[in-house]
Amino acid sequence: MGGGIAAYKVCQIVRRLAENGHDVHVIPTDSALEFVGRPTWEALSGHSVHSGVFDDVPGVEHVRLGEQADLILVAPTTADLLSRIAQGRGDDLLTTTILASRAPKLLVPAMHTAMWLNPATQENAAAARRHGIVVKEPARGRLTGRDSGPGRMPEPDEIVWLAQSLLDDPECAEPMSAQDLAGWTILVSAGGTREPIDPVRYIGNLSSGRMGFAIATNAAARGAKVTVVAAHTQAQLPSSVEVVTVDTTEDLCQAMTQRARQADAIVMAAAAADFAAAPATTKIKKHEGTDHVGESMTLELHQTPDVLAQICADPVPGRVVVGFAAETTDDREQLLHLADAKLHRKGCDVLIVNDVSAGRVFGSSDTDITVVHQQGPGRRVVGSKARAAAAIVDEIHQLLAQ
Ligand code: CTP
Repeated sequence: MGGGIAAYKVCQIVRRLAENGHDVHVIPTDSALEFVGRPTWEALSGHSVHSGVFDDVPGVEHVRLGEQADLILVAPTTADLLSRIAQGRGDDLLTTTILASRAPKLLVPAMHTAMWLNPATQENAAAARRHGIVVKEPARGRLTGRDSGPGRMPEPDEIVWLAQSLLDDPECAEPMSAQDLAGWTILVSAGGTREPIDPVRYIGNLSSGRMGFAIATNAAARGAKVTVVAAHTQAQLPSSVEVVTVDTTEDLCQAMTQRARQADAIVMAAAAADFAAAPATTKIKKHEGTDHVGESMTLELHQTPDVLAQICADPVPGRVVVGFAAETTDDREQLLHLADAKLHRKGCDVLIVNDVSAGRVFGSSDTDITVVHQQGPGRRVVGSKARAAAAIVDEIHQLLAQ
């Protein structure tokens, strides 16, 4: 941890990582301790905290911690610390530990906009990336003073999510440090639409938006310019992407088709309602006076536009379109058969199919997906949504690179 005002946000990161079952060791620089003191870090991590190489000479701390680590997360990374890491210097316990570790490394720069945009800092970020280190782009927004711009530290949830993806799948570090999607524009839809019935009720679904956000966060970490069209979600919106919020399938359709021709890749991860009602302007009343338990009522629904099919019907050469298929069968052969039929019906390049029966997948952090191409089924990924997202973004990268 470097000495920046964003150090206070790192208390939450340490706490969340520890709550998620990780053994967290905090190594502050001396200036980081000016912002948040040693007792806080020791209490949150449950380990003693040192900043200098001479604090525990017999323990050879930098080698021990560097070898033990599965991930080194440096948050906040100040301009000075970034410069020292990029040059491979080892002048305190943190930088020597980084040098002594083969674990993936994630730097989260946080500083004033002018410092971040300074050519020297940009060159240091590029050098760190060339060394295989993942350097997160700072968020835009209000800085410590009155001004705003890129330089803010993203919110703790997003950093914990990125750290967890690198722990789940250390191979993610390479494309992220290489920024292999820089220059590409990716449009992702996420979450579940809501179709109003009357002023207080709606038809909705169980989608949490996590899968779409996981794909968006992964693609943005690999350097893509990402826009997320988000219907209703419970997940933390990533700071590094543009977010457009929508309500109904009709809104989703408008937001997606408006942007679809400018995108190099489109991922339709949203769960869009297939049917909508003509909403009543006042609350629909049940019959008053007598008790009519069990009485039925009829709600007339009309079909909504199929956003994915509409996008595919207006093809753009070289553009990659990825659809999702939520099916309710645990018979694998039937699952792949349904996916193949859906892929050809919609006309997308790739379809990601998963079995969502018995409440599986929706709202969970784990999933089980199979990538289906025009030519047939491909890779299957069972595990975290972060891992599945990395595999889906790999597919997109491969198709774009062709
Ligand atoms: N989709 C869409 N517009 C809709 C419904 C779905 O763009 N009105 C997209 C979803 O985002 C997903 C894909 O189509 O990428 C498949 O969605 P799914 O719900 O599995 O299939 P449906 O098209 O709704 O077909 P069915 O309900 O018959 O399985």
